[in-house]
Amino acid sequence: MTRIAFLGVGHLAEAMIEGLLRDQQTVPHLALSPRGQGPKLAERHELELAECNSTLISGADIVFLATRPADAIAAICHLPWRPEHILVSACAGVPIAHLEKAAAPARVMRIMPLTAASLGASPTTAFPSFPEVQALLARLGPVIVLENEAQFETATVSAAIYGWAQSLIGLGRDWSVAHGMSPEAARELAATTFVAAGRMIAERPEPVETLIANLATPGGITERGLAVLSEHGAKEGWTAACDAVLAKLTDGRAGRRP
Ligand SMILES: NC(=O)c1ccc[n+]([C@@H]2O[C@H](COP(=O)([O-])OP(=O)(O)OC[C@H]3O[C@@H](n4cnc5c(N)ncnc54)[C@H](OP(=O)(O)O)[C@@H]3O)[C@@H](O)[C@H]2O)c1
Repeated sequence: MTRIAFLGVGHLAEAMIEGLLRDQQTVPHLALSPRGQGPKLAERHELELAECNSTLISGADIVFLATRPADAIAAICHLPWRPEHILVSACAGVPIAHLEKAAAPARVMRIMPLTAASLGASPTTAFPSFPEVQALLARLGPVIVLENEAQFETATVSAAIYGWAQSLIGLGRDWSVAHGMSPEAARELAATTFVAAGRMIAERPEPVETLIANLATPGGITERGLAVLSEHGAKEGWTAACDAVLAKLTDGRAGRRP
């Protein structure tokens, strides 16, 4: 059985571990590093808790790295890496070249899951392709493999958009409550409206523009609201936010459009 380790057990690792353990019929072998949520999760799910990071790496085939980006390189330096290891980093903005140098001779993959991994509903981006890792990630939701690292950085902006979408859902709930709905109904409606919008575009074959045009009938409520959003610079604000995240991820190396 493939032995999987988590180096750095915080919020993201917890969501991934919960997602990996959802199917109790085929539970993978998981070992955790001893800091953060490691002891608590090891006890709760009866997982192996390593004494130290060296022991953790020695006993693993695939190592998920989920420390904060600033801690990533220090966490993987001077560990007993082997050529058979696959180091799978979820650390935003930490380039493959830096990871490869610090974890030589291990092979390196980058991924960007979302906390919806705990529900098996995380779109997880990945580069480069390692089919055995992708098979594991498929337990967390759809896996989207990018063609190069620049595309991967662009795709990582979606991890921030995930939070913005939740913020928009919160705004929608608050507005509905302020206009008389109960908080429970307002929350359910706001959240499931976003789920419905996403599912239509993910699952229907029509072009996105066609699906939107079908909704934005002339003189209708969707058209009216889109016009007001446009007057308030919604598109420019959205684009600027995406550009800012990409620039932060790449230290300004990417994201400059003509
Ligand atoms: N949170 C998300 O939704 C999300 C989504 C996608 C990607 N990510 C990426 O996932 C990574 C983790 O984010 P997070 O929100 O889960 O952070 P977090 O909650 O702060 O967890 C990071 C954990 O790493 C531990 N750690 C740091 N250095 C270590 C070392 N040398 N050995 C063992 N453990 C070490 C920390 O332990 P201590 O508490 O003892 O310092 C902490 O428990 C980030 O790089 C982020 O870019 C996060």
